[in-house]
Amino acid sequence: MNPNEHHPLTGRFLTFEGIDGAGKSTHIDYVTELLRERDLTVVVTREPGGTPLGEKLRELLLHTPMHAETEALLMFAARREHIEQVIEPALRRGDWVLSDRFTDASFAYQGGGRMLDITRLEALERWVHPHLQPDMTLLFDVSPETAAERLKAVRSPDKFEREKAVFFNRVRQAYLDRAKAFPDRFRIIDSSRPIAEIRDTIHSLIDTLK
Ligand code: TYD
Repeated sequence: MNPNEHHPLTGRFLTFEGIDGAGKSTHIDYVTELLRERDLTVVVTREPGGTPLGEKLRELLLHTPMHAETEALLMFAARREHIEQVIEPALRRGDWVLSDRFTDASFAYQGGGRMLDITRLEALERWVHPHLQPDMTLLFDVSPETAAERLKAVRSPDKFEREKAVFFNRVRQAYLDRAKAFPDRFRIIDSSRPIAEIRDTIHSLIDTLK
């Protein structure tokens, strides 16, 4: 079922989630190609970010130490702009929107990782997007140990990526809890499998969305 059915949003909204190093960026590129081969219009975006203001907030969020509540509020502030300027206009045009993270990341990182009260995050979610939800959320699930190995190979870490395994265990668990709470839109993908296998899984999942 399309959760945005009662809206004049004719596009499709897909989000990609998982702990840092779970491999979601690689798979977003794959889905983008897959959809463009079918002559669909695809808007690829990310959170925090996706707008000029959002990208400025991203810079702060990823590199400046701050109170956990400040972090949550800025994540949702960036999201407010993102929805208004990018996501809803694209969905109204009938485009496919692929977002590298969305609100589930706030529940996972600020809720699970930073242990903020979930009811506060739920209040922000209701405030910022009372009706909008992704049509499908692909959750790339992998152990923090495997993810850390992958990250080490590619780049120097930002503020979140410097967190320890216990933090990422909480983030991972919060994502899984969220998936359990919203089974209709979540699809959990075992991200420790070979890339080719994961692609096949994603391919079939995308086909169910047409
Ligand atoms: P990430 O998506 O991993 O981008 P990149 O692959 O370019 O590093 O980085 C975004 C970081 O922001 C990630 O560590 C998770 C964090 N984040 C939150 O803590 N809360 C949120 O609501 C969002 C959207 C992201």
